[in-house]
Amino acid sequence: MFTGRSLRRSGGRAVAGCTPVRLAGALAGAILLAGAAAEAQQAASPSGLGRPPTAAEQSDRIIGPDGAELPPGSGTPAQGEMVFGRRGCSTCHGPTGSEGPSIQLVGGDVTTRTNYWPVRHWPFAPSIWDYIRRVMPYDRPGVLTDDEAYAVTAYLLYRNGIIGENDVMDADSLPQVRMPRRDDYVMPGEWTPDTRRGFEIPPDR
Ligand code: HEC
Repeated sequence: MFTGRSLRRSGGRAVAGCTPVRLAGALAGAILLAGAAAEAQQAASPSGLGRPPTAAEQSDRIIGPDGAELPPGSGTPAQGEMVFGRRGCSTCHGPTGSEGPSIQLVGGDVTTRTNYWPVRHWPFAPSIWDYIRRVMPYDRPGVLTDDEAYAVTAYLLYRNGIIGENDVMDADSLPQVRMPRRDDYVMPGEWTPDTRRGFEIPPDR
């Protein structure tokens, strides 16, 4: 892919002694060259980056609601209970996820005060995996392995009465979990500049 950064660099050099016409020619040449190089790099690397992704880039995946990008791995509620203690989730969310001091992960109601949305109200189970894997633990995001994320997601789904005690969560089963509030959500219609937000944020917040 041709990046803005290399365009600016080639452009900067060309400006030094060029008329606008020559400059345009030089830029076009630079774009062609860079394009050819990018094509060669893309052919060599499936990610299109021209090099293998770093560990940080790899852990920065975002998993969509349908879970299509979920990685290999698996976990059960019992394993998740262990992870919940071992990874310190219980320090903030309480020994079983509902005592706090931080927000309740088991049970809980929607409150406008904190704009908090309980886990059991989320429309798609893969989004819970995605959120936990990228954002939690709050003080050390990114430390969970994929298996740990599956396990702790399974634990929270089980504790919220959504899956069974022995259900195994993985890339196949997690997208099949039907969240109880799924039908409360609708796909947004076509957007126009007059479209209003689906919700209002009170002005005093
Ligand atoms: C240092 C405290 C802390 C730790 C440790 C922690 N959390 Fe959290 N967690 C929070 C806070 C604070 C929020 C709310 C964040 C926000 O809304 O921006 C939150 C939010 C969440 C949510 C979203 C809840 C919702 O419905 O919006 C989930 C799920 C969650 N945490 C799971 C976990 C798991 C699993 C672990 C352990 C791997 C963990 N947390 C560890 C503080 C913590």
